[in-house]
Amino acid sequence: MEQTGKKRKQIRRIYSVSFSPTGNTRILTETLAGQFADNFGTAFESIDFTMQQARAEGKVYTFIKGDLVVFGMPTYAGKLPNKLISFVREGFAGGGADAAALVSFGNRSFDNALAELCELLEKDGFQIIGAGAFAAQHAFAWDEKAPVFRKIHTPEAKPPGQGRPDARDLNALAEFGRAVIRKTESEEHYDGNPVSVPGNAEAPYYTPRGLDGNPVHFLKAKPQTDVSRCTGCGICETCCPMGSISLEKKGKTELPVVTGICMKCHACVKACPEGAMYFDDEAYLSHRSMLVRDCQIRCEPVWFV
Ligand SMILES: Cc1cc2nc3c(=O)[nH]c(=O)nc-3n(C[C@H](O)[C@H](O)[C@H](O)COP(=O)(O)O)c2cc1C
Ligand code: SF4
Ligand code: SF4
Repeated sequence: MEQTGKKRKQIRRIYSVSFSPTGNTRILTETLAGQFADNFGTAFESIDFTMQQARAEGKVYTFIKGDLVVFGMPTYAGKLPNKLISFVREGFAGGGADAAALVSFGNRSFDNALAELCELLEKDGFQIIGAGAFAAQHAFAWDEKAPVFRKIHTPEAKPPGQGRPDARDLNALAEFGRAVIRKTESEEHYDGNPVSVPGNAEAPYYTPRGLDGNPVHFLKAKPQTDVSRCTGCGICETCCPMGSISLEKKGKTELPVVTGICMKCHACVKACPEGAMYFDDEAYLSHRSMLVRDCQIRCEPVWFV
């Protein structure tokens, strides 16, 4: 739709772009892209690069000036998921498009994730017009879906970020959206000053701590299968962003085996219709308990334009 008003920047196409194994980030990016689409009188296109097929060798998503792209990723260990960095570097050509950068986080802290995302997108050729960090349900909360997990591990409280993003978060998201829209309508938009966000894109990853406060290491942890519940349906195999799950014949049934890298994203745990996937790694469980104990105070969303 042709825009009115002298200063209004021409926004022609709107996109939601997300990596979102358990869906929080995608809810946020699509909600914001929907707000932009309503405002500019057009539809938005959703690009979800969670699955490997969307990140095929040589694939490049190309944008141009006049595009407004909401680009979202989750916080992992205080930064972006490290296995995705090379694709975010190689797989997007910003072409001067405006980008609203967004990270979700599980109510511990987004630390340096937003700074890292802004830096990556700028290097890709996007112009950052706004940036925000929004708390959401911690992916580790999905463990509780598995009855066997609830038997082996019973922390006193719910994991952080339960029920989020909630109405208050979505109001803040809409406020952020209105600020971005105002900016597209103003001359300041062209002043070339980068949006300033907290954090340091070069900072190291956050070191997870256990209940006793000491560092814990669970890089090699992988989900287990409760064979008493697994039906061999294969859903977990199709939803792993790393393509690391395959079904293997075990006796009369087929059971999932995690053969490759596991980023602990919890997509398989969330997707399993039988509650058969769970983590039992001691170091991981200690970190999870620490989060449950120490991260209950509500983190409010923050945004910058
Ligand atoms: C491996 C891993 C590491 C995480 N690290 C952090 C963290 O450092 N800080 C935090 O607040 N949340 C952390 N989270 C929680 C996620 O950022 C949060 O649940 C996010 O919304 C998940 O996004 P998704 O639903 O789009 O997959 C982590 C989650 C996972 C799976
Ligand atoms: S999704 Fe669940 S039930 Fe289906 S194969 Fe995987 S573990 Fe088994
Ligand atoms: S196996 Fe690991 S990487 Fe794959 S979906 Fe499950 S938690 Fe995510």
